[in-house]
Amino acid sequence: MRRFAIIGHRAQSSGKLPLNDLASGAGRMDVLIRALMASLMTSHGFRRDSEIILHLWGGPGPKRRLKIVGSEVKGIHAEERSIAGQIAKVLREPVPPIGSWIKRSSGIYDGGGSIEETIREWQNSTIIALDANAERLWSENTTIPMVSNPHSFDSSDDDEVVIDGIDIGFILSDDKTLELDDSHDIIKRSIGQTWLQGHMAIGICHFLIDEGVTLNL
Ligand SMILES: C[S@@+](CC[C@H](N)C(=O)[O-])C[C@H]1O[C@@H](n2cnc3c(N)ncnc32)[C@H](O)[C@@H]1O
Repeated sequence: MRRFAIIGHRAQSSGKLPLNDLASGAGRMDVLIRALMASLMTSHGFRRDSEIILHLWGGPGPKRRLKIVGSEVKGIHAEERSIAGQIAKVLREPVPPIGSWIKRSSGIYDGGGSIEETIREWQNSTIIALDANAERLWSENTTIPMVSNPHSFDSSDDDEVVIDGIDIGFILSDDKTLELDDSHDIIKRSIGQTWLQGHMAIGICHFLIDEGVTLNL
């Protein structure tokens, strides 16, 4: 399973989302939507072994989390404005209490809380905070395999969703640096010395997992 958490320090968490002003008025909601697309979508469909939690910290009101689950999601298209429309519907609802996820539509869950709750929910995952200044995410001297051998993959049948392989969670920030409490069992890893946009960083994580590059965990 591949999990992504992205922090939107200024991302609007409640009220009427300005669909024509996602970058500014909505507090860089465009960044979060691109991260959502990169986490869940391939060229032709959804990654069923992936999910993302958007952390909306910009108010008004309490922080909100939106979880979008690749194996369940329907009615989402690779187009920023249509995804913003789905988010807008959720933001009109009150923020649920911390600890509960309310299903708002197929594969879209609405919850309260912060990154601390996400880390707690990911207790069975290896958690990586992505940081360009850290050690590399891949092992020294590893090579890129010539045949794809994914670390995580979907083996579902018609009756049940089955995800095999590693369970790994990545935490990313937006344009602001995220300070994480050192007490958590989280490792920092880099995908190169150049700071990339969040959605590109997610794409590289998928590439490494898709191809089965040996990871430095
Ligand atoms: C636009 S960058 C944020 C840059 C911001 N100046 C900072 O200091 O966090 C968005 C996120 O993508 C991830 N990221 C970008 N480039 C990366 C890299 N080379 N290695 C690891 N993570 C990266 C980080 O999680 C980062 O918080």
